[in-house]
Amino acid sequence: MIRLVYVSTCDQNVQLSDVQEILRVAETRNAEREISGMLCWSGEFFLQCLEGERGAVTQCFSQIAVDKRHHSVELIVSSPTTVRWFSTWGMGFTRLMSSNRVDLPNFAGGSFNPYLLEATDLQDTFARLSTQAQRLSFDTADQRRGNP
Ligand SMILES: Cc1cc2nc3c(=O)[nH]c(=O)nc-3n(C[C@H](O)[C@H](O)[C@H](O)COP(=O)(O)O)c2cc1C
Repeated sequence: MIRLVYVSTCDQNVQLSDVQEILRVAETRNAEREISGMLCWSGEFFLQCLEGERGAVTQCFSQIAVDKRHHSVELIVSSPTTVRWFSTWGMGFTRLMSSNRVDLPNFAGGSFNPYLLEATDLQDTFARLSTQAQRLSFDTADQRRGNP
């Protein structure tokens, strides 16, 4: 198994509905390929972790890397692992907003710039993001149902 983490800059036209569409596809595709992970979106940047068999993760990432909804894709880490950080999700989602980004370490001045992340920061960062993920995916579900 490998764990792959990358950062990217989202296309300026991308909105929450586009990210929901990405997640909808990712949930199905990743479950089929036994990939777990988390997608984090700040409105400006993406940070994503993908875990699974090497071939499946590599194939998934090569599709993601050429996706027009983001650019400046930079790999932070791709390394062998025996333990999944995200055993229960196809693809978790955290939307970083001003209200929750302060909980994260290593973000100078409260702004989220994942290009500054070091490989050694990742486990702690994703652990903190995971605590936000459930609540925020409820928000996403509410918006799908048309609730404010
Ligand atoms: C930031 C970002 C993250 C994505 N994450 C995934 C993912 O985890 N799994 C996935 O199958 N597709 C993901 N996609 C979508 C893929 O780029 C691609 O659209 C999808 O795999 C369908 O590709 P296809 O229509 O060429 O088969 C992501 C796209 C973006 C922009």
